[in-house]
Amino acid sequence: MILILQLLLALSLSLRADGYNHYTVKDCITSSSDLSDLEYINTYYFNKDPYIQFNSTVGEFVGFTEFGVNNAERWNKGPEVQQERAELERYCKHNLPIYYSTILDKAVKPKIRLRSIKQASGGHPAMLVCSAYGFYPPVIDVYWLIDGEKVTSDVTATVEMADGDWYYQIHSFLEYMPTSGEKISCVVEHTSSKEPIIVEWEGSFTNSDMAKIIVGASGFVLGIILSTAGFLYYKMKSPDFL
Ligand SMILES: *[C@@H]1O[C@H](CO)[C@@H](O)[C@H](O)[C@H]1NC(C)=O
Repeated sequence: MILILQLLLALSLSLRADGYNHYTVKDCITSSSDLSDLEYINTYYFNKDPYIQFNSTVGEFVGFTEFGVNNAERWNKGPEVQQERAELERYCKHNLPIYYSTILDKAVKPKIRLRSIKQASGGHPAMLVCSAYGFYPPVIDVYWLIDGEKVTSDVTATVEMADGDWYYQIHSFLEYMPTSGEKISCVVEHTSSKEPIIVEWEGSFTNSDMAKIIVGASGFVLGIILSTAGFLYYKMKSPDFL
């Protein structure tokens, strides 16, 4: 992941459509948290056109327009370039660790909700949706297991959607033909949790599951009645009854 810390300095910002807009953008760019490849870029814009830029890897100002080229020549000989060369340390290396420790290293665990949005009917498959809410950072893996096997087809998922408050949500849909006794679960892997979060689907039973449960429960009740009756009969027959 590339991180860009951006500071917008508007030197004379006009919000009017017929006004002029002069500003500089300071970027600290890195792709690793140890900041080993950190680069500092300061770009000057007039309206939306960049005209001069300092790049810490280059170590000098480079102009893009005639005005920019003239300025670059002058600034590269003066104190301006010395000041810019110190910005990588002073500005980027100072601020980025603060951002890492206060925001980027933080992880917030998703809340998982698993529900059925379509029952199987007339040869059409059923559909389950597994939703993860309120997690950070956005990198997440949501997948399905049927009897312990990862499902590779009949799954569609949204991208990670920003809630606009640093938290994200994502939804994964599974289409399946219900069969008796299968075990379906939704698995979520996220940096906030060392172990994968597994939520098992324990919703609707199929008709044949229901029949088995009724037969089993009836047998159980019958067994209790018969053994109680047998026990009472034995007690009543024994000589020390009452
Ligand atoms: C800064 O300059 C280096 C060396 O020319 C270049 O590789 C890099 O892409 C430049 N960075 C940006 C953001 O333009």
